[in-house]
Amino acid sequence: MEVYSEKQQISSTLDRLRAENLKIGLVPTMGALHEGHLQLVKKALSENEKVVVSVFVNPTQFDNSDDLEKYPRTLKEDVSLLKTLSKDSILVYAPTVKDMYDGNPVSEKFDFDGLEFEMEGKFRNGHFDGVGTIVKRFFEIVKPDNAYFGEKDFQQLAIIKKLVEKYQIPVNIVGCTIHREANGLAMSSRNTRLKVEYKKAAPLIYRTLNTAKEKFGTKSANKTTEWVEAQFASHELLDLEYFIIADAKTLKPVKRKSNKKAYRAFIAVYADDIRLIDNIALN
Ligand code: PAF
Repeated sequence: MEVYSEKQQISSTLDRLRAENLKIGLVPTMGALHEGHLQLVKKALSENEKVVVSVFVNPTQFDNSDDLEKYPRTLKEDVSLLKTLSKDSILVYAPTVKDMYDGNPVSEKFDFDGLEFEMEGKFRNGHFDGVGTIVKRFFEIVKPDNAYFGEKDFQQLAIIKKLVEKYQIPVNIVGCTIHREANGLAMSSRNTRLKVEYKKAAPLIYRTLNTAKEKFGTKSANKTTEWVEAQFASHELLDLEYFIIADAKTLKPVKRKSNKKAYRAFIAVYADDIRLIDNIALN
């Protein structure tokens, strides 16, 4: 399996593959791969002849330097895991910050028609400018036919669809359902950093989302939100940052329910210093 660290090298390999009319998929990741990532790569392998898996901890999307520093970096293990899926069809692109940012790691400024101001955008300053910058760069370098993103980061997925629409980037964006541990916890690279007691407590997040979904069937968004807030109010280990019921398209919080619209509930919780997010379709 080839591991590329420079854009010129991977670009020229990809030019050759494209000249052979091979379909190219892209799975952008920040590494510390888990089963959720592997599901994305499997889907990409089933729909493309070659799949680029990028592994890059993007500094410009972190608003917290401690989180950036502690983010797990496990390239060797990531490559071994990917080899279990395919040795010939996967190309790993693990660039350096210098390669991606030419020595100047700053974000472009984007207008995502307001999607960027909701939820994660409110709590993580500049996060989506960082994501937009790096994903646009990967699209320019890899020029994939298809690119795969998990619905765990549902807002990110919506923003990437908007990026592609606004910049008319010729790539098909494929959203993939959330992959969960047996206890319901959404898979995330950050889960590896959870201490035992927090790992035990964290499945409450998904259980709460499921009950909130039931409650939203008969109650208002406000009442459902109050109920969720009460579940975390005196929790010893989990600290609720937000729970929001939003229009699944605009991501704006629901004011009055309409049965013509699709809604989704979004949650962010701190388990110690580790921030966990999750979401669920409500109707
Ligand atoms: O979802 C992620 O892991 C990252 O935000 C992404 C899309 C790889 C961009 O750095």
